[in-house]
Amino acid sequence: MDNRNHGRCSLPRLAVGAAVLLFAVSLAATPAASHAGHDDTGLHSNYLVIVRKPYAYDTNLYKNVSSWHASLVASVCDMAKEALEKDPSSVSRLIYSYRNVVNGFAARLTPEEVQEMSKNDWFIRADPEKTYQLQTTHTPQLLGLMGGARRGGVWNTSNMGEGIIIGILDDGIYAGHPSFDGEGMKPPPAKWSGRCDFNKTVCNNKLIGARSYFESAKWKWKGLRDPVLPINEGQHGTHTSSTAAGSFVPGANVSGYAVGTAGGMAPRAHIAFYQVCYVEKGCDRDDILAAVDDALEDGVDILSLSLGDEQAGDFSDDPVSLGGYSAAMHGVLVSAAGGNTGPGPSTVVNEAPWVITVGAGTTDRRFVATVKLGSGVSLDGESLSEPKDFGAEMRPLVHDVGDGMCTTESVLRAMNVTGKIIICDAGGDVSVAKAKLVLRSGAAGMIVIAPQVYGSVIVPRPHVLPTVQMPFMIGQKIKAYIRSTPSPTANFIFKGTVFKAKSPVAAPFSSRGPNRRSRGILKPDIIGPGVNILAGVPKIEDLALGAEEVMPKFDIKSGTSMAAPHISGVAALIKNAHPTWSPAAIKSAMMTTADYTDNLRKPITDVDGTPATYYAIGAGYVNARKAIDPGLVYNLSSLDYIPYLCGLGYKDQKVNSIIHPGPAVECAKMPKVDQKDLNYPSITAVLDMEPYEVSINRSATNVGTATSTYAVEVDVPATLAVEVNPAKLEFRALNEVLNYTVTVKTASGKAPASTIEGQLKWVSGKKYVVRSPILVCAGTGGKSAASMGAAPA
Ligand SMILES: *[C@@H]1O[C@H](CO)[C@@H](O)[C@H](O)[C@H]1NC(C)=O
Ligand SMILES: *[C@@H]1O[C@H](CO)[C@@H](O)[C@H](O)[C@H]1NC(C)=O
Ligand SMILES: *[C@@H]1O[C@H](CO)[C@@H](O)[C@H](O)[C@H]1NC(C)=O
Ligand SMILES: *[C@@H]1O[C@H](CO)[C@@H](O)[C@H](O)[C@H]1NC(C)=O
Ligand SMILES: *[C@@H]1O[C@H](CO)[C@@H](O)[C@H](O)[C@H]1NC(C)=O
Ligand SMILES: *[C@@H]1O[C@H](CO)[C@@H](O)[C@H](O)[C@H]1NC(C)=O
Ligand SMILES: *[C@@H]1O[C@H](CO)[C@@H](O)[C@H](O)[C@H]1NC(C)=O
Ligand SMILES: *[C@@H]1O[C@H](CO)[C@@H](O)[C@H](O)[C@H]1NC(C)=O
Repeated sequence: MDNRNHGRCSLPRLAVGAAVLLFAVSLAATPAASHAGHDDTGLHSNYLVIVRKPYAYDTNLYKNVSSWHASLVASVCDMAKEALEKDPSSVSRLIYSYRNVVNGFAARLTPEEVQEMSKNDWFIRADPEKTYQLQTTHTPQLLGLMGGARRGGVWNTSNMGEGIIIGILDDGIYAGHPSFDGEGMKPPPAKWSGRCDFNKTVCNNKLIGARSYFESAKWKWKGLRDPVLPINEGQHGTHTSSTAAGSFVPGANVSGYAVGTAGGMAPRAHIAFYQVCYVEKGCDRDDILAAVDDALEDGVDILSLSLGDEQAGDFSDDPVSLGGYSAAMHGVLVSAAGGNTGPGPSTVVNEAPWVITVGAGTTDRRFVATVKLGSGVSLDGESLSEPKDFGAEMRPLVHDVGDGMCTTESVLRAMNVTGKIIICDAGGDVSVAKAKLVLRSGAAGMIVIAPQVYGSVIVPRPHVLPTVQMPFMIGQKIKAYIRSTPSPTANFIFKGTVFKAKSPVAAPFSSRGPNRRSRGILKPDIIGPGVNILAGVPKIEDLALGAEEVMPKFDIKSGTSMAAPHISGVAALIKNAHPTWSPAAIKSAMMTTADYTDNLRKPITDVDGTPATYYAIGAGYVNARKAIDPGLVYNLSSLDYIPYLCGLGYKDQKVNSIIHPGPAVECAKMPKVDQKDLNYPSITAVLDMEPYEVSINRSATNVGTATSTYAVEVDVPATLAVEVNPAKLEFRALNEVLNYTVTVKTASGKAPASTIEGQLKWVSGKKYVVRSPILVCAGTGGKSAASMGAAPA
């Protein structure tokens, strides 16, 4: 052994191993054991170390994988022998030993120790710590939905998700919230073996589990050293949890708006909460992995992850993808937020084909408020800040002569805005704080103009002064009016909550495809309600309350974070109705039945009013009523995913880190599956080589009526020629699988000029329509299939 860098770990290898076997006991028993003091030198940092499998560890010496991992850490440690003997628990710098999600561990190591490790045959790689973020928008908080599943008897068929456990990884949960009342809930199913680390009075038959994961995070974020139980905090986690599975709460409202009975998508499902994110900090990768590792053994049925990272590497690098694969193998569907960095291309995150990647759309609810101008023109915006009596008189209308965003109080004072209505562009400080500044300056009301990129979408907030929020285009009309007259005036008319607005519209912030890590798989998969969603919160942050006002327990938030738990809740309903379905089947059911038209029966649009592309909405907007009975599903298992990973050109060790704890494979000895042939509910054809024709295979499983016939309908623009063979699928039994081949070519025989969209539907009488979007990508210049996993330039 080379001693130059590590010689201080002087125990013979076997002795260290044996010692650590014992120490592992106390380590496991007291995971929060203090590491403080001797390890705070700044030389150590957190690493995720991936090790080889199979690497036979001596089962006599190491009872389980955790004690083996501990011995690997100890084998390169620089601890003096004396320290080992004095305080056994302090020596192991093992943070987590993973069992399900990866073959590896998280540990505190020096760069020299990592170097030393890398010389061992068991070592694959060591990744420095990494932070993930919750997927809220920078102007979060909006308003809501509770409907969706209410129409049609979906709650009846699915018993409101009874007996299903939704695991939620997020920033904390306000356990005392009425949405988490256990009244009327049955106890969790016997398979549940998770923990509730809250004090005993808090968990109940609704909130059945609650744990904090901060063993890795505490090293990088000061103040997380003590357990931060997820109680009485967690704006984000309380909102996502109550969206997925909140109990019914009558009279929910935000400042009098959106009044109604609040309830999650699966009101009788159980919630198991895993705190992995910390406010204003983020979510540590290795804590996320540990939470998924435990959740799979605890017995969750669905995992809801409203977190992600734009810079994540390939599928073997990212906890959502790694955890999601193990979850799928445990029969657990992972529903993950697709990100809020739209509307630019290639912004979508969490793109692995075994997770369902969720984008955001609007709902049909608006909080309408009208600005009446002195010219007589009335323009509609939205408001959650209705005063008791704003009065009918016209007031002077001004715009901020500073930066336009009303961020400088001295400017507003110099303008003398007393009693006036002031126009402020969005931007600068968060709007809630901005409202306070404007109120202090003496203004009577505020008009906030949204950024242009938001199009028609408005995300209203409760503000401390009467406020109307306006789309950019309408804001320009108001500004033009101000310029047109020497003494502009305006007034506000508040119209309250209004339904049946055109919806859904793709949310401007919702991240878009193409998929950077697997171009042949369309992402996002689906969109769900994610704009102005009403759900539970501990309190509304920054809200100034009058003396007799009660702090509202519901708030309106926007983001793909809000959309993902809707999909999790619908998945719980499907799982209740069809307990034996695989995660891929549940996902397929939601995708092939999603709505691709809006409530005006027109194709779903983007914020600019043009039809939304598949890169914005995937298969469309979830329709719970149809998803519960889809007719056919496209099923997938490890037998599909492994050849797909080999087909992406991943090296064996990457494939094996993903598929752990499944048996290791060698791609050279496996069939390879091209991305287009992965049995996915959407179809992506890359036409990048002459003769600009590809054949794509699919296998449909009958989950509808035993004896049934499906006829194909293809709807593509004239620039494409698509053939399906056979054109009829005749099923004779439930769970029968029939194959078909889709041949896609350009009508001209030349390369497609740009992306082309179409759709394929299998139709069985009036009962079932099973739809797959068809996306045809123009080529990148004849690159091989293996390089398609790489990001397009
Ligand atoms: C591994 O073995 C140690 C020592 O026997 C024990 O304390 C620990 O709980 C075990 N871990 C697992 C995951 O079984
Ligand atoms: C479902 O509908 C049936 C028939 O209307 C009714 O008897 C049953 O109580 C309903 N079940 C639930 C869970 O609502
Ligand atoms: C348990 O939590 C409840 C709800 O937050 C709180 O009221 C109570 O004081 C706590 N009990 C203990 C012993 O901490
Ligand atoms: C500001 O305007 C209000 C209303 O027009 C007026 O009453 C007040 O005197 C003005 N204050 C100053 C300092 O000019
Ligand atoms: C709105 O919520 C508050 C509590 O936040 C409650 O006091 C009030 O009754 C609710 N309003 C309606 C109309 O239900
Ligand atoms: C899908 O595949 C899985 C795993 O092979 C299998 O258990 C399941 O029965 C199949 N069908 C459905 C509808 O999930
Ligand atoms: C697709 O299906 C056809 C017909 O069953 C078969 O000949 C072909 O090998 C399949 N292609 C792939 C890539 O699986
Ligand atoms: C359908 O396709 C699957 C996967 O390619 C294959 O294993 C199966 O044999 C095919 N079934 C028929 C009836 O051709």
